[in-house]
Order: sequence, then C-alpha cells, then structure tokens
Amino acid sequence: MYLKDRFLKDNEASLSYLDLSVQRGYAIFDFFRLVGNQPLHLQDHLDRFYSSAEQMRLPIPKSRGELKQIIKELIWENELPDSGIRVQLTGGENNDGQEFISPTLIISQIQFPFPSSSLLENGMRLMSYQYQRQLPQVKTTDYLMSIWLQPILKDGNADDILYFSGGIITESPRSNFFIVTAEGKLITPGANVLKGITRKNLIQMASTEHAVEERDVRMEEVAAAREAFITSTTKQIIPVVQLDGKMIGDGKPGSVTKKLMKQLGERTGLH
Ligand code: PDD
Repeated sequence: MYLKDRFLKDNEASLSYLDLSVQRGYAIFDFFRLVGNQPLHLQDHLDRFYSSAEQMRLPIPKSRGELKQIIKELIWENELPDSGIRVQLTGGENNDGQEFISPTLIISQIQFPFPSSSLLENGMRLMSYQYQRQLPQVKTTDYLMSIWLQPILKDGNADDILYFSGGIITESPRSNFFIVTAEGKLITPGANVLKGITRKNLIQMASTEHAVEERDVRMEEVAAAREAFITSTTKQIIPVVQLDGKMIGDGKPGSVTKKLMKQLGERTGLH
C-alpha cells in the first residue's frame, strides 16, 4: 500500500490517533476496480476524487499524473488482478481536532466480495429508511447510518436499505437506485445523491435504447414501477424485487434489468 509518500507492506502501515479521520470522521475516498490489471473508468474516479477533495477543502498533495504513477506501481508490485483500488484522503494529523494542515493520502489495493449469484439471479429486497447523507455529492467515508442499521436490516428480512427524505427517494447506502416504468423509461434520483460512476456509464449506455430521466423519484412511483435495480462499482447492477415487503413488478428480476446487466458486463469486461 501507499501511505504518506511511501510504499509499505499492509502490516507496516499505521495512522496516528490524532488524524482527523480518527478524531472527527473527516475523510474522503474513491474506489475503482481492475479488469485483470487494468483500472476501470480511472479518469471518472479521479475526477470525482478531486471534486470530493475540493468540496471538503482538502488539498490533494499529488498531481493527477503522480497519482496515476503511484497506482500503476502499486498494481505492478502487488500482482492482484481483478481486485479494487481505494484512494483515501484524510484531514491529517491535528492537535486541536478542528483545522487541517496536511491531509494524509492513502492508496491501497484490496480484494472485495462479489455479489452472490443468488442476489444476481433472484434480485434483492430493500427496506426504506428516512435519512439524508451529509454533503451527498462528496464521497466521504461516513457510512455510520448504514453500519448502524445492519441488525435492523436482518430483522426486517431485507438485503439492503433505500434512503428517502420527504417522500423522495435518494439512494442506497453504497449504491444508486433506478426504476423502469411501465413504458420502459429509466428514472434515477437526480438530487441529493452521490453521482455514481456506474450510474453515469449505465445512463450513457441505456440512453441509446431507452428514455432516461434524472429527477426526483417519489416513493409511490416505486410501487407502480415495472422493475427496479441498484448500481455500484462493486455490484455493477443488481435487480431489486421488493421494497418494504411489497413486490416490485412481478417480484422477479425484469427483462430490461437483465438486458442491461448483460450489456454492461460486455462493455466493462466484468462478468
Ligand atoms: N460505494 N452512492 C453511495 C453513497 C456510494 O457510496 C456509492 C459507491 C455509490 C455508487 O457509486 P459508484 O457507481 O461510483 O461505485 C452511490 C462504493 C463502491 C463503496 O461503498 O465502497
């Protein structure tokens, strides 16, 4: 891994207890996948990383070219194909716990769990929860609510959460949300969400065959939808077949979702 200007073994790396990420939860990150040893959508992820940093007023201590070079060296050194790269930037060490002086850059390569074949084939069940992520356009490391909700999710017989606020759906804790209407239109929440890279590429790909809208999606629209699915870097597309115990469409992964899963897999080289 790479931490503060040095390549280190994972067990050699340590972060001070004074770092603002530890003290106050002040940090951002981005995460992308490798197809073999080739980063997928690297430009998009670096664009979002720089944008998150700017919005959080954290200067990135490296240029884009330097970041790419570090990532390349890490991939070459680790020989871990089909894994993921996490680029993190924390508030840095600080004694008064408020202002940051020198942000800490951490880049690590990790293997992560793929979605189970049962979820991909049968779809997932979501449970709605009223909550709005802070600074939604920024990829912060704040997943407090999602972790806190885990036991409630299990009790509610659901696989994941769907956040909403004031009757308007936003996103899942780690994924974007789409519905397919009875007319075959794709709609995804347009405001107060993290603009996912998978979401962006899916919109681009799907708009050759479908009308796609980015706008507010009301809870009632999910009940009337023919299909629904979520998108993210780790999951790509997973069909959603239930919300709060009620079936979406016929309660099975829909034909549009299945077609998009296949097309996106072919386009990215991920299967
Ligand atoms: N999660 N919304 C949130 C809040 C997210 O954290 C993520 C990504 C997404 C989907 O974005 P993308 O398609 O760029 O992955 C939407 C990452 C994968 C994570 O939890 O590590």
